[in-house]
Amino acid sequence: MNYHNPSLTVISSEIIPGAIRWRSPSNIALVKYWGKHGNQLPQNASVSFTLSGAATDTTLRYKSRQEAGESVEVALLLDGTPNSGFTERTKAFLEKLLPVYPFLKQLSFTIETSNSFPHSAGIASSASGMSALALCLVSLEEELFEPFADRAEFLAKASYLSRLGSGSACRSVYGGAAVWGKLPGLDGSSDEYAVSVTESLHEVFKNYHDDILLISKSEKSVSSRAGHGLMEGNPYATARYAQANRRTDEMLSVLKHGNVERFGEILESEALTLHALMMSSHPPYILIRPNTLQVIERIHRYRADTGNPLYFTLDAGPNLHLLYPHAVAAEVKQFIREELLYFCEDKMYLADRVGKGPERLEVNE
Ligand code: DP6
Repeated sequence: MNYHNPSLTVISSEIIPGAIRWRSPSNIALVKYWGKHGNQLPQNASVSFTLSGAATDTTLRYKSRQEAGESVEVALLLDGTPNSGFTERTKAFLEKLLPVYPFLKQLSFTIETSNSFPHSAGIASSASGMSALALCLVSLEEELFEPFADRAEFLAKASYLSRLGSGSACRSVYGGAAVWGKLPGLDGSSDEYAVSVTESLHEVFKNYHDDILLISKSEKSVSSRAGHGLMEGNPYATARYAQANRRTDEMLSVLKHGNVERFGEILESEALTLHALMMSSHPPYILIRPNTLQVIERIHRYRADTGNPLYFTLDAGPNLHLLYPHAVAAEVKQFIREELLYFCEDKMYLADRVGKGPERLEVNE
């Protein structure tokens, strides 16, 4: 699919100022995207659960600009305060989108954004943030030009734009579960955008829990961008990409049939593989902390003692996501409170669930 469209231009003076608001959630990868090529294309397929509570609210305000400039005119406010770092990142993203949306340099934008989770929580906001903005942009396209034929087309384009901002963001535009990356066995799958696999999700996974244990709230010492880049020289890269594609295939079958034990085995191995890849990069990165290992040991012991299917995963940082079915929620939460919170910074954790995906909100004036 080529979304480049030089004809998407407007007559600025005819634009009535307006605003669009979307809330978009974060997602947790079950099989990880780690390694990319070309223009934000993944080296392997990945699959994730979209979350419910961890989300970004973004309002995109637009008005006409007297004369189109060479660059995009945008100001970004985070929680109501101008933020120069995010403004620069957003400007670069919007400028990258000019071949898709030439009208972006004909308008002037103010973006107001806020996250449902604390900034200092050490949780990546790029998936929710980029997808919320992408959804606002596709809604703006519909307002300025034509509506999409159906919601699937709308979401595919939002996923495509999200991917150009941050790879993992492209999976956040769908509720339930989403796959990003071409898989021969999955019709419609693509490296360019994610597809939903929610329809084939077994009941047990529809309201699965994901409690996020905040082991450390500090900034990551390596950006995902740099981390992905290091895969290029990683001696295990080829084997890893093949493994991830096989695992995404298998995970899809597991998600369909509801095998929570096999789900957990793949989940944990993916987390450890991701960190093993970082440790075997040059330079190497160790992003887990001693308390991450303390918690992992206790989860393993808990599983052996109780038989409850509680498993963990990690992103490119020390914080753990604990995934488990609703049927054992009361017991697991007690275990977290009594035995795991001790290892978390400020004894903090965020209780989340598999969610229904982004929603368009009314704009507050
Ligand atoms: C470990 O999507 O943050 O969370 O495309 O450079 O923005 P960029 O990377 P990003 O990488 C996420 C990596 C991961 C695994 C995953 O979400 O699949």
